[in-house]
Amino acid sequence: MATSTTPATAVVVLLTPDHPDGELLDPSVPHFSALAQGLARGDGIFETSLLDHGRVRKLDEHLWRLQRSAGIVGLDIPDAHAWRRAIAAAVAAWNPGEIAEAVPDEALVKLFALRGYGPENPQGYAWVTVTPMWRSLRPDGPIRVVLLERGHDSATMERAPWLLLGAKTLSYAPNMAAVREARRRGADDVIFTSTDGLVLEGPTSTVIIKRGDTLGTPPAEIGILPGTTQRVLFRAAEAAGWRTSVERLTPDDLRSADAVWLASSGRLLSQVARLDDADLPVDDRVHAELMRLLAEHS
Ligand SMILES: Cc1ncc(COP(=O)(O)O)c(C=O)c1O
Repeated sequence: MATSTTPATAVVVLLTPDHPDGELLDPSVPHFSALAQGLARGDGIFETSLLDHGRVRKLDEHLWRLQRSAGIVGLDIPDAHAWRRAIAAAVAAWNPGEIAEAVPDEALVKLFALRGYGPENPQGYAWVTVTPMWRSLRPDGPIRVVLLERGHDSATMERAPWLLLGAKTLSYAPNMAAVREARRRGADDVIFTSTDGLVLEGPTSTVIIKRGDTLGTPPAEIGILPGTTQRVLFRAAEAAGWRTSVERLTPDDLRSADAVWLASSGRLLSQVARLDDADLPVDDRVHAELMRLLAEHS
């Protein structure tokens, strides 16, 4: 496995049966066929994790969730050892130098697996990328959020598993469209609601609330992705004396909470200061404590 010492703003490592430790590719040239059906259909899964001073934060959790998504979409993917070797190779090759718009000493490590179709690429593709952690991906203060419908109820996941709710699939176009709609409405981000009136998740984040000494979040069973940031934070918070609760929440629960956050691997925690037309309380002290717990335990 060759590693590079040339500064690069992206690293790509492909996992194939011929290269079980991963093959370092030139990121500046195309590698996938324009005919790749898995790509054309968005028929694949991914993970986004944070590389922080050379270490991938909460990698076990990401590998667990990648396997979970693979199970939901019915995709055969390389085992965790192969992913770990490919990630190690990708991280070793990451040498970005100074990039003004990026957070220093951080990067995003993404894992992808794409279904193969037909004789052109029957086994599909699996690959790892490392790219800059752009500052714009991490809001530097409280954010404004709008509630948007997602168009399914909290039992759809069970009734219609082919909709792949709760899997981290490559079909994120609706999620990105929702963020654009939020921007159009003068907000920064979105919290999705179900047709039966429950709080779901953000397009790229998990909802967390604080009520007294309890942190709460909605359950994955209602058709959302189990957040790795939320899981790690809740474990750390419990050890630090917080109560935690995984429960069905309504928009009224958000409005009456002491504080509300969106959580994800790259952004970490963003406090929600405005929900539609209502101001929400912002608690800088608790925010700092939860950020510290997250930093210490992931
Ligand atoms: C739909 C969705 N929910 C929740 C999350 C938060 O997950 P994590 O904390 O593992 O990054 C993400 C992350 O991108 C997401 O896309």
